[in-house]
Amino acid sequence: MDEIKEEILKDLKKVKNLNELKALRDKFLGKEGKITKLLSKIREIPREERKEYGKRVNLLKEFALKEIERKRKELEGLILEENLKGEWEDLSFYQGEEEGNLHPITKTLNRILQIFLFMNFTLEEGPEVEREDYNFDLLNIPKEHPARDMQDTFYLNREGYLLRTHTSPVQIRTMLKKRPPIRMVSAGKVYRRDDDPTHSPMFFQVEGLVVDRDTNIRQLKYTVRVFLKLFFGQEVKVRFRSSYFPFTEPSLEVDIGCLLCKGKGCGVCKGTGYLEVMGCGMVHSRVLKNCGIDPQEYRGFAFGLGVERLCMLYYQIPNIKLFYENDLRFLKQF
Ligand code: PHE
Repeated sequence: MDEIKEEILKDLKKVKNLNELKALRDKFLGKEGKITKLLSKIREIPREERKEYGKRVNLLKEFALKEIERKRKELEGLILEENLKGEWEDLSFYQGEEEGNLHPITKTLNRILQIFLFMNFTLEEGPEVEREDYNFDLLNIPKEHPARDMQDTFYLNREGYLLRTHTSPVQIRTMLKKRPPIRMVSAGKVYRRDDDPTHSPMFFQVEGLVVDRDTNIRQLKYTVRVFLKLFFGQEVKVRFRSSYFPFTEPSLEVDIGCLLCKGKGCGVCKGTGYLEVMGCGMVHSRVLKNCGIDPQEYRGFAFGLGVERLCMLYYQIPNIKLFYENDLRFLKQF
C-alpha cells in the first residue's frame, strides 16, 4: 500500500492535463484499478486482520481521491490563467473604465435646494426664455433701468421675450398663480452679457420668496443666517449691508467673513475680509400690488444667490470658466 501511495504521487507529478489525470484515476480507482483490486481482495484476508486491512485500504482510497482532486483544481487554475493570457487586451480595457460623478455645480445646487426644502420651502419653476414684463416691469424695473441695456440683456427676435437675466421672474409667476402664504425657492440658468474670470454669460441662480401676513426683516435675516451656516457647515460671520434693488425695499447685500483669511484680508476678498454672497430684501409694495396682493395685508421677503459663487467659495475654485470647460482633470476632483 505504501508503494501505491508513492506511485500515485510520482504519477501525479507527471500529469499535464485533465485527460492524463483521468487516465491516472482509472489506473488506481477504475474497474481494474490498483486500489479497487485491493478493496475486492478483502474477502481473501483472514478474519482477524480484515478490519485493520479494510481501514488501511479505505484510507489509501481517500488519499488518492484527495490528491487527484487537488491536481484537478491546480490544472483548472492553469487553464484559467492560460485563457486569461489571451485576454489581456480586454482586461486593460476594463481597467480604463471610469466611474462618473456629478458636476460641482449640480452638487452645490442640490445641497442648496436640500437646505431650503428642509426649511419647508416649496420648489417652483420658470422658463429661461422669459417674458420681458415678468423679468423687468412687474419687478418694478423701469424702462430706463441700466439692467435692460443691450450691454446686460440677451434680447430675442421674438417681441416681448428675452433670456431671463435673473430668477426673480419666478417670484412674479408664483405670486400670480398662488395666494399667500407663499414659501418658495426656484433654481436655474440665467443669462447676462458679462464675461470675465468671475462672470459668465450663463450662470445659475437660486431665488427665494416668502409672503405672509407677519413676514418681517428679522425672519429674512434669520433665514439667511441659518442657510449660510448649514451650507458652509460651520459658523460663518454674516454681515448685512444696505443696498438697492428695484423690487425690494429695503434692499440688503449679504457678506460673509472671508473663509480663506478668516477676515484678515487677502487676495480672494480683495483685502476687505468679506465676501459678497447674495442679495435680498423686503418685497417692494409695488411688486406685491403688481401681482394682486394687498401690501396692507401681506409682506414678503426675497433673496437671490449665485450658485457658481457659492460653489467657488465652498471648494475654493479661482476661476468660473473651469465649470464650463468640461476638463476631466478638473471635474474628477469632486
Ligand atoms: N435678482 C437679483 C439679482 O439677480 C438678486 C435678488 C433676488 C435680490 C431677490 C433681492 C431679492 O441680482
